[in-house]
Amino acid sequence: MTLRPLIAGNWKMNGTPAFGAELAAELAANFAHDNVEMAVFPSFTSLTTVEAKLKGSKVALGAQNIHAEAKGAHTGEVSAEMVKACGCKYVILGHSERREAGETDADVAAKTCAAMAEGLVPVVCIGEKAKMEAAEAQSILSAQLRESLKNIAITDADQIVVAYEPVWAIGTGLVPTTQDLEQAFDFLRKTLVKTYGEEVGGNMRILYGGSLNAQNADEILPIPHINGGLIGGASLKAESFLAIANAASKYA
Ligand code: PGA
Repeated sequence: MTLRPLIAGNWKMNGTPAFGAELAAELAANFAHDNVEMAVFPSFTSLTTVEAKLKGSKVALGAQNIHAEAKGAHTGEVSAEMVKACGCKYVILGHSERREAGETDADVAAKTCAAMAEGLVPVVCIGEKAKMEAAEAQSILSAQLRESLKNIAITDADQIVVAYEPVWAIGTGLVPTTQDLEQAFDFLRKTLVKTYGEEVGGNMRILYGGSLNAQNADEILPIPHINGGLIGGASLKAESFLAIANAASKYA
């Protein structure tokens, strides 16, 4: 890996602010790598509490979603400006659990623009739903990339992080074979380079997500073009999340 890997913890709908404070404090005290970046993505309700615990540490903060509009009559929604004001550097967009709830590529494209306008780094998630032939998965992935990043200027694209998460691998304990991951990430890198050129497409980080844990990190993270991970279950305990970051540091 030549790009500085990002180890991103998607806490999903887990934990009160008290839970977040405890986990964040443990990560802040123990994460010391310079060649790896770590970020955590708590619920909106825990952002400010977690931010306070991360202050002065090497661990960054992110949100799990934003609304595409800057403000207005959108009850229950949260804007890019709001999460930025809570100290977020990153925002996850188009996670499969949100796509499952109706979010489309067009929504993700609009949210990506909103995030970037506010100076947030979008972590744009893509992934095929079921196990399938490589060629079939690749056509889904390239369409998701094209549509989700539709309105992004080529010169801005290297600020985007792409997360490839085969939906069937999320929360199931199943992971693609090394060979399948090599093929998928080679395809994703080539697609980004073809779209944005070597300079930009070659510098976009691509994360793997889906049942990544402390046990399989040493097999997955050294694979070419995998520039870190988006981790759900294993990010809810400091020990396993830090172990994944340690593995990433070895291959960075
Ligand atoms: P998992 O979740 O690590 O629990 O499979 C990953 C994700 O949904 O981002």
